[in-house]
Amino acid sequence: MNNPLDKLNRPVKDLRISVTDRCNFRCTYCMPKEVYGESFKFLPKDELLDFDEIYRIANTFAKLGVNKIRLTGGEPLVRRNIEELIAKLSKINGIDDIAMTTNAYLLEPKLDSLIDAGLNRLTVSLDSIDNETFKKMSGQNVEVSKVLSAIDQANKKGFESIKINCVVQKNVNEHSIIDLLDYFRDSGNIVRFIEYMDVGNLNGWELKDVLSIEEILKLIEIKYKVEKIPPNYEGEVAKRFNLVDYSAEFGFISSVSQPFCSTCTRARITMDGKLVTCLFANSGFDLRSIIRQGCTDEKLDEVIKGVWLKRKDKYSEIRHELTKSNYKKIEMFQLGG
Ligand code: GTP
Ligand code: 5AD
Ligand code: SF4
Ligand code: SF4
Repeated sequence: MNNPLDKLNRPVKDLRISVTDRCNFRCTYCMPKEVYGESFKFLPKDELLDFDEIYRIANTFAKLGVNKIRLTGGEPLVRRNIEELIAKLSKINGIDDIAMTTNAYLLEPKLDSLIDAGLNRLTVSLDSIDNETFKKMSGQNVEVSKVLSAIDQANKKGFESIKINCVVQKNVNEHSIIDLLDYFRDSGNIVRFIEYMDVGNLNGWELKDVLSIEEILKLIEIKYKVEKIPPNYEGEVAKRFNLVDYSAEFGFISSVSQPFCSTCTRARITMDGKLVTCLFANSGFDLRSIIRQGCTDEKLDEVIKGVWLKRKDKYSEIRHELTKSNYKKIEMFQLGG
């Protein structure tokens, strides 16, 4: 099949699959505890896509030009037998990179089986290495040492250049910016600072809580000499930098202050099988229904291609218009980062 271009001339290259809406954390900016407490009803198991269904969808995307899959959630490691899914996906023709975004709390004991299954890369969400701030932001009584140990073990077992994602919130974890750079500068891992975004509807996002990448860079330059480095590929989300005296890469993700929609080649699948063409979408195309009604592979290919051909999302470029209206979005933990 050919490589379709959407209405803004963008191909589809990167498929991000949320494998569960559940998470062992309650990050204040993603699943605040007050909203997602003990009585919150997550999706029953039979409403999640099963591994065969995910495989069929991924296989279609591979035919349309996707070569990279990222598993997200919620927390992907709480999905039972996730290794089986990875093993299946790694056999798809054309898929040469399978990555996972995880909070790493459950990672260490699973490292060997994930490697055996064919996982190529890891991204770890980590907002602070200071235990009090870590606990506060992750909304649970958890220990940051467990995450740091998992990262260390993952490095030793061959995961190089792990991306460490830090969501920066004003007056919450600014001090973690330098702490994280200090901690990881000799490790080969890549810390990326993410501007706090208005994903979903329930985290109480306000522009005043965002620390822009310009502001973060200024804080870093007080201690470190930095230089910009070119992107690895066109459309890369993160802006890359280097700590000159340490040859340590770090980066920024600036969806709020410097949007990057014009090169966005990402498609997302929610845990219940909706195809979503933007992180800030308010709905998606229900692939699960047509699959469960028995559609053929050819029909599935045609439907997915049709959705991509119609795509014209550029939310971050028009955020200001939409935040004024009562625009309802899908929550981040349902469609992954
Ligand atoms: P690789 O290049 O595959 O390593 O991944 P990446 O650098 O794109 O990073 P990753 O997928 O971990 O994305 C990092 C974070 O950037 C996500 O967790 C989101 O917070 C944000 N992000 C990723 N893609 C988008 C996007 O399409 N739009 C917006 N607004 N934010 C995004
Ligand atoms: N703003 C920015 N990043 C977010 N993430 C989750 N919610 C937000 C938000 N509101 C990030 C997490 C994780 C990835 C899945 O998305 O930190 O790295
Ligand atoms: Fe869980 Fe990740 Fe959301 Fe935090 S950001 S609550 S770790 S899904
Ligand atoms: Fe892509 Fe939507 Fe993010 Fe823009 S806001 S980069 S279109 S996912």
